[in-house]
Amino acid sequence: MKKEKIILTGDRPTGRLHIGHYVGSLKRRVELQNSGLYDKTFIFIADAQALTDNIENPEKVRQNVIEVALDYMAVGLDPMKSTIFIQSQIPELCELTFYYMDLVTVSRLQRNPTVKTEIQMRNFETSIPVGFFTYPISQAADITAFKATTVPVGEDQEPMIEQTREIVRRFNHIYGDTLVEPEILLPDNAACLRLPGTDGKAKMSKSLGNCIYLSDTADEVEKKVKSMYTDPTHLKVSDPGKLEGNTVFTYLDAFCKPEHFGRYLPDYPDLNELKAHYTRGGLGDMKVKKFLAAIMQEELTPIRERRKEFEKDIPAIYEMLRKGCETARATATATLDEVRKAMKINYFDDAELIAEQVKRFGQE
Ligand code: TRP
Repeated sequence: MKKEKIILTGDRPTGRLHIGHYVGSLKRRVELQNSGLYDKTFIFIADAQALTDNIENPEKVRQNVIEVALDYMAVGLDPMKSTIFIQSQIPELCELTFYYMDLVTVSRLQRNPTVKTEIQMRNFETSIPVGFFTYPISQAADITAFKATTVPVGEDQEPMIEQTREIVRRFNHIYGDTLVEPEILLPDNAACLRLPGTDGKAKMSKSLGNCIYLSDTADEVEKKVKSMYTDPTHLKVSDPGKLEGNTVFTYLDAFCKPEHFGRYLPDYPDLNELKAHYTRGGLGDMKVKKFLAAIMQEELTPIRERRKEFEKDIPAIYEMLRKGCETARATATATLDEVRKAMKINYFDDAELIAEQVKRFGQE
């Protein structure tokens, strides 16, 4: 049988999704969903994973499930083509996690660079919740339960995919070929790998207040772009400007397409010319920001409008999620059955086992 090509990815519902999520992953997902190259697409809201570092704040997670679902629909994820579901509604994932825990050592988890950074960022050092510490294992369950072959995520998720691949190899080595090794699919544009915050800080984060959200109003987007971090030494228009670390140009690298010049900045043939002028001196920040703002509005307006439409029928969104959970659960259950069979813990369906034991006890 030809191996199916299956996409799976998800997001923690800890806030509305922002343009970092969009260029880093969401946009690609929609393209993949529509490409016809994949047999199945699973997209899920990782509420259980979000609880691993939000245990004091479960209401935040609960509220953001619907926000993320709305963002998904707004960017064009389509429940007719993708199964959209909520992690906590698939209890089979917990059982898989429990078995996988035996395949991973504590020191291996301690070496996971993403978990390391997250522990520092959250000041967990001396009181790391066990569930948080082991979330890479539960993530391996998320991925393997659906036999995902392709996981489109940002580069910070690379250690999780590697961890999953190790678990798959270890499981298959011990129990025979059962699980599928997934591959990571990173964004292809360097600027999209990790879009900085509007303040130039390395990462967009709600706590830093440096995000542009998919659900921001046109005014909010305009204001945020106009106040973006550029080159602090570029004081006068005539000063030569630096591109490196200049957020406005990083965003242009991520969003600007050649046709935008014709529409919004016809004095320049392309981004290279714009950059050259800025570096030489004589090009003001405001002009570049206006150009970026126009591009951002073009990209975000349809998303914002679709979101407004979906917000009009919230029960329909929950119903869509409920159906997605049902479909997802059927797949996870089938995989779990195979896993139990491979592990030979399916005692009551195993006629051979019973015959073997009868023999062993000499009751023939
Ligand atoms: N860890 C991912 C994030 O923080 C969310 C996630 C959970 C995920 N399980 C996954 C992503 C499985 C891809 C595949 O964004």
